Amino acid sequence: MTTFPPGFLWGSATAAHQIEGNNVASDWWEREHAPGTTIGEPSGDACDSYHRYEQDMRILASLGLDLYRFSVEWARIEPERGHISRAQLDHYRRMVDTARDLGIEPMVTLHHFTNPRWFAHAGGWLAPDAVDRFRRYVEAVLPVLADVTWVCTINEPNMVAMFAGETDEQGTTLQAFGQPAPNPRISRTLAEAHRAAREVLSAAGHPVRSGWSVATQAFQAGPGAEAVTQEYGYPRDAWFLEQAAGDDWVGVQAYTRTIVDLDGPRPVPQDAERTLTGWEYYPPAAADGVRLAHACAPGTPVFITENGIATADDTRRIDYVRGALTGLREVMDEGIEVLGYLYWSLLDNYEWGSYGPTFGLVGVDRDTFARTIKPSARWFGGVARSHALTD
Ligand code: FCB
Repeated sequence: MTTFPPGFLWGSATAAHQIEGNNVASDWWEREHAPGTTIGEPSGDACDSYHRYEQDMRILASLGLDLYRFSVEWARIEPERGHISRAQLDHYRRMVDTARDLGIEPMVTLHHFTNPRWFAHAGGWLAPDAVDRFRRYVEAVLPVLADVTWVCTINEPNMVAMFAGETDEQGTTLQAFGQPAPNPRISRTLAEAHRAAREVLSAAGHPVRSGWSVATQAFQAGPGAEAVTQEYGYPRDAWFLEQAAGDDWVGVQAYTRTIVDLDGPRPVPQDAERTLTGWEYYPPAAADGVRLAHACAPGTPVFITENGIATADDTRRIDYVRGALTGLREVMDEGIEVLGYLYWSLLDNYEWGSYGPTFGLVGVDRDTFARTIKPSARWFGGVARSHALTD
């Protein structure tokens, strides 16, 4: 039997734009509705979690999970430059209170891909005052975070730097391999924004444990391609993990691997098992990500802030998570501190251009918003309650 230490945290993650619905002041919403958009389908009402968050958290609590990672939406809190909505801050504060009332710890993400339209129009992360605008936003969010321990400043800054405004031919950002090179200026600005946010949080008046979460991609060298792989992978994930040195934790978000040959990333082989995103089914991705995070930021504890699979076959979800957790136990045995595991995602949601890839532990009816708890959710809850993987 594979067991996990008593303090190990179990939970699930979501992001505002993907579940709330009608995030109309955001740049993503604008892009979804722009004439000639390359985005596959718009987010619309999403899962209507803006109104149904309590139901979602009740499900999470009933499964036996400890932690709910959700994001607060900058585009709602500051829909116009300098206008901070008290009502939206109250809304997110109610979410924190609801989590606590249900016995769940919140992990609050401050930035999960989406920006207010005004921020994007002003140049986004390339604007000269981008860090300052973000810092002011984080200051504004502090009342929501009063007594919140876990804060994720920026979700997948490496993806933000790679996909500043781009989608692939499927109209999503969920490419199976070969993401664009990150814009180094955006990478550096995001690191600065992260440090600014941590500084604001350190003055919050209560102990906050903050970090950022990096999309690790398990780059593996094809024959003779060690140096090429190192050069390819470093600006895409390792650099971002290095920035987490000295942070309270670093988030690893892992789904699949990419093999890099001498001429670049290799497409997923036809005969490999693929998930609904077209990614290779590869459960060791989480453990690989933890090892890399530890190598890049040796003293920083690791949190699996996202790991999961898009599948219509719920038994594959169980197998995938079992494989990932087995690998995690191994890296923990190697002496690496792993604080917890958050499954992506709690709900079948809007996956950045498509509702097709179903990652959820819980299904959502697209017309009625009715939630259906999948068997994998009950299985995962059992693992969380017992802190053990049984056969
Ligand atoms: C990550 C994102 C998350 C979700 C998963 C599948 O890159 O952080 O929002 O889309 O991938």
